Amino acid sequence: MVAAPRALAGIAAVAARLAAREPEHDQLVAVVDAARAAINADECVLWSFSPGGLEKLAASGHQGTKPDEVSALLAADLAEANGIIVRPLLTDEPQPLGAISFRRSSALSAEDQLVLRVIADMLVPWLAHAERARQLEVEVALRTRQNDEQRRFIERIIDSLPVGLYVVDREYRVQAWNRKRETGMQGVSREEAIGKSIFEILHRQPAESLRKEFDEVFRTGRIQTVHMESTASGDARTFRISKIPMRLTDAGITHVIAIGEDVTEWREAQERFAQAEKLAAIGQLAAGVMHEINNPLATIAACAESLTMRLEDMRGDGVRTPRDANEYLGIIDGEVHRCKRIIDGLLDFSRPKPVTKSSTEINEVVEHTLFLVKHHARFKKMRVETALADKLEHVTANREQLVQVFMALLINAVDAMDERGTITIKTRHGRGAREAVVAEVIDEGVGIPRADTSKIFEPFFTTKAPGRGTGLGLSICYGIIADHGGRIEVDSTPGAGSTFRILLPAEEASL
Ligand SMILES: Nc1ncnc2c1ncn2[C@@H]1O[C@H](COP(=O)(O)OP(=O)(O)OP(=O)(O)O)[C@@H](O)[C@H]1O
Ligand SMILES: [Mg+2]
Repeated sequence: MVAAPRALAGIAAVAARLAAREPEHDQLVAVVDAARAAINADECVLWSFSPGGLEKLAASGHQGTKPDEVSALLAADLAEANGIIVRPLLTDEPQPLGAISFRRSSALSAEDQLVLRVIADMLVPWLAHAERARQLEVEVALRTRQNDEQRRFIERIIDSLPVGLYVVDREYRVQAWNRKRETGMQGVSREEAIGKSIFEILHRQPAESLRKEFDEVFRTGRIQTVHMESTASGDARTFRISKIPMRLTDAGITHVIAIGEDVTEWREAQERFAQAEKLAAIGQLAAGVMHEINNPLATIAACAESLTMRLEDMRGDGVRTPRDANEYLGIIDGEVHRCKRIIDGLLDFSRPKPVTKSSTEINEVVEHTLFLVKHHARFKKMRVETALADKLEHVTANREQLVQVFMALLINAVDAMDERGTITIKTRHGRGAREAVVAEVIDEGVGIPRADTSKIFEPFFTTKAPGRGTGLGLSICYGIIADHGGRIEVDSTPGAGSTFRILLPAEEASL
């Protein structure tokens, strides 16, 4: 049979539409339009098989053919019932790819059947291609979503870190910037930072030295760590800045990760530990020396006493004795006692004697100390103010020793202020059970040079004139407070004043 020109034209029209091979909807509609015209049908629908059954892809002259009506006719190669003609679109797979259906009031001629078969066969590779493209699209969407999720997950991780973190590439451009770097006084938002030069973002830091630090990491591939003091957030904080090399490929270092950690607390703890160790060593050394001095001192005291008695006896016998002998012996006795006091003080510091401790209220200790110093001549021109917190937790303490501590701090304050001005004693609730009670002695005195703050708790460190201070006051305070499970610290501004702070554990925490 030779196909008529009309049939060929119809097939050519469908073929032309298919040439684009673009599985877009407009294109599909054009294809079914051409197919309908080719066999002069009232309706043409293109169906595809999806897991849910037949699905309409495109329709021309739609008259409401249902998927069920089409499914019922799929078994045959070309079936016709109730004016619906169906041709399954078959591949090598057992399941048809889809189907094409027509509605026509008159029966198909043999030529129309041929045209229909040809058109259907042309549609098969095209639909298979479209199906593959669709699957690919689904796959791409899935992968993109997984990638986005993965990226968000990694962003969450770096945002949750308690450190400031950013990453620069070899052009020093910011490629990552975490939440911590967005906050604080010098915070910069991620949008603002990403893609910019790090020198532009960290404009407060000298660009040259920053560049050198990055170059060093790019060159050596080793982690660089520096410590930096910063007062940007108000008070002085110490930061540990680490620059870590990163390789995206095996070729070499492509990025540097910079991490900034606030290590202020860690450094302070470190310093306190070193201080405690040093004091313990000094204490042990001093205790040994003092023990050796105690015996000769006792001998001197005994000899002086014997001489005094001897002089009295001689006077009783009417013998004339040198006029200044008694005066000298008095001096010897006085000085020996002064030495004994120093030794006792030092022994107190180095080997705190086991003392009885009981439940103590710190405000009560402060009040008692103030009662004792009130009548002292040196406090005559001083104003002592108190700001005592209510309902402070009790501490397990030896009351006399705590009074001794406050007394030493008050006397130091008076010395620092040259006996005039205001001293403030504050008590307040601290943080956690280990530092539940805080007491501060605040003066407006000369202050302590920064270089001296690490030495003032050492025995015999004094800046006072000979005879005015032995340098034992604070070392004894240190020993007593440490023996109570607490700690003592100082903040001072030369020329403006000092604050000595005692932190003690709550009663139940010191058991
Ligand atoms: N409130 C303060 N203001 C300024 N400097 C202080 C203050 N308290 C202590 N110092 C400094 O610390 C040093 C050591 O103090 P510490 O109490 O241990 O010894 P001292 O007062 O010199 O002598 P001592 O207490 O044995 O009579 C002081 O000499 C002083 O330089
Ligand atoms: Mg003192």
